[in-house]
Amino acid sequence: MAVPWWEIQIIRAAICAPGRSWRPILYIARMSSIPNADALAGTSLPQGPSPLAGKHLVLGLSGGIASYKAAELCRALVKAGASVQVVMTEAAAHFITPVTMQALSGRPVYTSQWDAREGNNMAHINLSREADAIVVAPASADFMAKLLHGGADELLSLMCLARPLAQVPLILAPAMNREMFAHPATQRNMAQLSADGATVLGVGTGEQACGETGDGRMLEADELLEELEAFFTPKLLAGQHVLVTAGPTYEALDPVRGITNLSSGKMGFAIAQAAWRAGAQVSLVAGPVGLATPRGVQRVNVQSAEHMWQAVQPLAQVASVFIAAAAVADWRPAQAATQKIKKDASGATPDFHFVENTDILASLARSGRAQSGALFCVGFAAESHDLQAHAQAKRLRKGVPLLVGNIGPATFGRDDNALLLVDEHSCEALPQAPKTVLAAQLIERIAQRLNS
Ligand SMILES: Cc1cc2nc3c(=O)[nH]c(=O)nc-3n(C[C@H](O)[C@H](O)[C@H](O)COP(=O)(O)O)c2cc1C
Repeated sequence: MAVPWWEIQIIRAAICAPGRSWRPILYIARMSSIPNADALAGTSLPQGPSPLAGKHLVLGLSGGIASYKAAELCRALVKAGASVQVVMTEAAAHFITPVTMQALSGRPVYTSQWDAREGNNMAHINLSREADAIVVAPASADFMAKLLHGGADELLSLMCLARPLAQVPLILAPAMNREMFAHPATQRNMAQLSADGATVLGVGTGEQACGETGDGRMLEADELLEELEAFFTPKLLAGQHVLVTAGPTYEALDPVRGITNLSSGKMGFAIAQAAWRAGAQVSLVAGPVGLATPRGVQRVNVQSAEHMWQAVQPLAQVASVFIAAAAVADWRPAQAATQKIKKDASGATPDFHFVENTDILASLARSGRAQSGALFCVGFAAESHDLQAHAQAKRLRKGVPLLVGNIGPATFGRDDNALLLVDEHSCEALPQAPKTVLAAQLIERIAQRLNS
């Protein structure tokens, strides 16, 4: 009888690029036995409903080269399900036309406080009252200086001043030349705007439109989208430090072959993303996967189970939550060959000997911090059947308060999954959904347990 693919460690030759991506070149297993192998090449997390869906945003543009990125941002916001009302300063309209922004937002753009389209001629009142937030991207040095002093001589600054402070948050995405950004006046203005309650986002570093290199580039549209999605996510894990392991491990047999498994890392990466959005500091220890690092997450790349154990230990000293989503190899070759093991004409097959890897989850669950309640440990179990019984048994064996069960073939490499949450008193099924959605639900359940 064939051994189920998810239970065997599949031997494959791989090119492991330094850093984080890898490309399998040969599976020593029948490809037909590996479902969804194409998914291994994926780089982005599955998309679920965005926290921006149903939100209404005023997108303000002030005068800066980065206005072109606001067009892309507007498109991304609409795609995420938000409605967008664009308001532009006179300077912004020198960089990008209101026509473009109207086409992308699907609404006429406002550029003047004297705009008579509003019945009462008070766009600054009407548009700000219906917004869930005002996002100014790009926020020019001049615009922030004006805001700081309560200036209101054109529509966008007037609207920021007139907005109900407690209900309509102001989010600023600075964009300017590096000298302008580093200038004490700009730094002082941004600090004071933060103190006044605005959310001042960070900036990117690199080559600037003016030809200089340094800090001050506006964040890219996808980064701004991530920041805004995080902004609208309840901060259930504020003050927590979440440590997540994700992906497979790779145990070298020789310089070109190793033992690994089909974990794509998507579940663990989605959990890291959800934890960051929920306000946690997040450390992600990742096996060899080709996924992009979620925004705000501190990532450590590892290959083998022992590398993972080395990386996890110091982080577990400072983390308050440990989520073990990685598919860690139970065994490694006792000795990896230093040269490629060659096939000869004799038909003889190589004889491999294995030693057991450290059980990362069980070891941390036994640690003083976990036992004292300072480190809340969550395990994952990939099973093939009898999920509840196996998940409960694994929870007790590992000594963790919460175990997340899933069906191996239904999760490895896939964008969707279904989870079964098992603790001492209960068993809760989270039905089939994108992994990003399940990750947010899992974070919610963990937060409930931390607060109970
Ligand atoms: C070609 C050009 C590029 C500019 N780029 C920026 C910029 O990226 N960031 C910035 O703060 N100001 C930039 N400025 C200056 C602003 O456009 C200027 O301060 C303007 O008055 C800002 O008006 P506003 O804040 O009302 O939109 C640039 C000016 C020019 C002529």
